Amino acid sequence: MEVAGKVVVVTGAAGGIGRALVREFARHGVAGIAVADIDGPGAQKVAAELVAAGTPAIGVRCNVGDEADVKVLVAETEAAFGPVDIFCANAGIVIGGGVEVANEEWQRIWEVNVQSHIFAARAVLPSMLERGQGYLVHTASAAGLLTQLGSAPYSVTKHAVVALAEWLSITHGDAGVRVSCLCPQGVWTAMTGAPDQDGTTNSDEPGSLAGSGEVMEKDFATATAGRDGMMQPQEVARSVLAGIEREEFLILPHAEVASYEQRRAGDRERWLRGMRRLQASVFAPPS
Ligand SMILES: NC(=O)c1ccc[n+]([C@@H]2O[C@H](COP(=O)([O-])OP(=O)(O)OC[C@H]3O[C@@H](n4cnc5c(N)ncnc54)[C@H](O)[C@@H]3O)[C@@H](O)[C@H]2O)c1
Repeated sequence: MEVAGKVVVVTGAAGGIGRALVREFARHGVAGIAVADIDGPGAQKVAAELVAAGTPAIGVRCNVGDEADVKVLVAETEAAFGPVDIFCANAGIVIGGGVEVANEEWQRIWEVNVQSHIFAARAVLPSMLERGQGYLVHTASAAGLLTQLGSAPYSVTKHAVVALAEWLSITHGDAGVRVSCLCPQGVWTAMTGAPDQDGTTNSDEPGSLAGSGEVMEKDFATATAGRDGMMQPQEVARSVLAGIEREEFLILPHAEVASYEQRRAGDRERWLRGMRRLQASVFAPPS
């Protein structure tokens, strides 16, 4: 899809990959952008930056895990710019730990990482199907194709996002709705402990994935998600825009992920043994 002239929504756009995405869309001459985030002032700030640079934009406070908020986000976008052409369901969180993680935390990450994608599709699909065109971009993760060492909630929810994206593509592709699924490995954002532009970071208490923080400890991220190199958010955003223009389902900013997925599918036992070895090396106590 040609993105110039389109109406775009990006969630989780006050920082990280989402903010890089809205900046990249702006560079491509879109007609209007809704910058959505649970951090309302943060969303407003990014929208103001886009407007100052000449791109029509609105900042909307939206908790993507709350369907009423998602409906309001779509209604405000339509009122400002017209029907949504491209919806990027990007907001997400990480919670470390395994099956011992409290039910309330499993529920929370399910709502933010999975339900949000259902709410988004539900809100924009009727109009897209009526118009015979539209684009859904789902930010999953390489963890959605492989696994996230140290985090069962992240692995499970990101696999669910990939499954939903595949289902939507199969079910609505012939009706003109395009779907992409973004699956990066490590990206330097607040989630992986990167300082933000203004020098702040939300990693004051690094959320070792043994805990329940929403930030991966920097060393951990580097050793696992970042083992093939941590990427800058703007590089990821460029991959996404290229993927949309080529209408590719799977957007893999880290190209290695394609071969990891093939290895996993080709010999599951061998892949599991390799992942156990990697885990042992990451979690090995310092000597
Ligand atoms: N950083 C990585 O290494 C990496 C790798 C693969 C996939 N991802 C995925 O990319 C997406 C963006 O992550 P990021 O690295 O930019 O993280 P980030 O923490 O830097 O940014 C996430 C943004 O989402 C917002 N957010 C959190 N909960 C929300 C909610 N309930 N409603 C609306 N907004 C909410 C936050 O305020 C923040 O602005 C996530 O889905 C994440 O899982 C990240």
